[in-house]
Amino acid sequence: MKGLVLAGGAGTRLRPLTATSAKQLVPVANKPILYYGLEDLAEAGIVEVGIIVGDTEDEIRKAVGDGSTWGLSVTFLRQERPLGLAHCVVVAQDFLGQDDFVMYLGDNLLRRGVRDFVAAFEEERAAARAVGAEGPAAQILLAHVPDPQRFGVAELSPSGEVVRLVEKPTNPPSDLALVGVYLFDARIHEAVDAIRPSPRGELEITDAIQWLIEQGYPVRSQVVAGYWKDLGERSAMLEGNRLVLEGIEPAVLGEVDDESRIEGRVVIEDGAKVVRSVVRGPAIIGRRTVVEDSFVGPFTSISDDCLVVRSEVEHSVVMASCQIVDIARLTDSLIGREVIVARTDVRPRSVRLMLGDHSRVDLA
Ligand code: G1P
Repeated sequence: MKGLVLAGGAGTRLRPLTATSAKQLVPVANKPILYYGLEDLAEAGIVEVGIIVGDTEDEIRKAVGDGSTWGLSVTFLRQERPLGLAHCVVVAQDFLGQDDFVMYLGDNLLRRGVRDFVAAFEEERAAARAVGAEGPAAQILLAHVPDPQRFGVAELSPSGEVVRLVEKPTNPPSDLALVGVYLFDARIHEAVDAIRPSPRGELEITDAIQWLIEQGYPVRSQVVAGYWKDLGERSAMLEGNRLVLEGIEPAVLGEVDDESRIEGRVVIEDGAKVVRSVVRGPAIIGRRTVVEDSFVGPFTSISDDCLVVRSEVEHSVVMASCQIVDIARLTDSLIGREVIVARTDVRPRSVRLMLGDHSRVDLA
């Protein structure tokens, strides 16, 4: 069994963060989203992993290296343009050969990983082979969601068989969204070669699986245990951060002075300093970050090398090397690298902004 991780794509819904960096590298609890997927694959016993990369190839290569950190052997596969998830399978055809594989979207986050999901598919395939049959061609993961229009959606028969899959339907046949983790055998290559681009101009993996169903090839499904998040936009990103923080192991490795209080599930990384402040968990403060005369509230991740002075930050993700100074209250914010949010006495007294394209500012 091989792994295929998708880390191309433009990440338009996360602009401007994605104007300068890959969405798969936005940190959740101070760790790039992509790392969670690589950890899940390693935990499922997978070693050979192909990573589809696009314009952000250099950055992804730098962040992943050769994969040995996770015990993986990684091959980078370049997709020239974001032509769809099924197109990624076309790009990976030589790498995958005739092997079964897990396809894992690099911006998806799964509470329970993929070990049980992979094991179930392998067992069923082995049992089928033992009696000379082929077994399932694919296995999909589903999740109940309040907004199925935003996803691929599955229609199941009363007995639980997958009868139809539709991508981003206006009238969803159910509330079961396709999670971005799929298991396939080599028959998926016939499918991706047979389908045509969708109205959004992409080769959809949803259409490829629908093609398998139409050929009469068995497609299994199971509903995901634990949470699942597609971290494609700001609110999902903040929610993913909250979910991961709720499970972190508290640890104080940095310095906390006597006038500070650390409450609940909090990680203070090595080299961080908390001075005359309150950090209320779940929260994480990155390496060498200084929090002074401030309050860092629940569901907040502050990355490495930041400065938070005379400010209050809650339910936010602050990426590396930022400065937040004299900000009475900052909530529900997603802040990119090397950003400065500060109050000054410079006249005229006004709000002065230097924002990238597609930025968003909500003033109280
Ligand atoms: C893609 C798939 C969709 C799936 C979703 C899961 O959507 O096309 O079927 O439900 O990932 O994250 P996209 O992120 O390309 O809009």
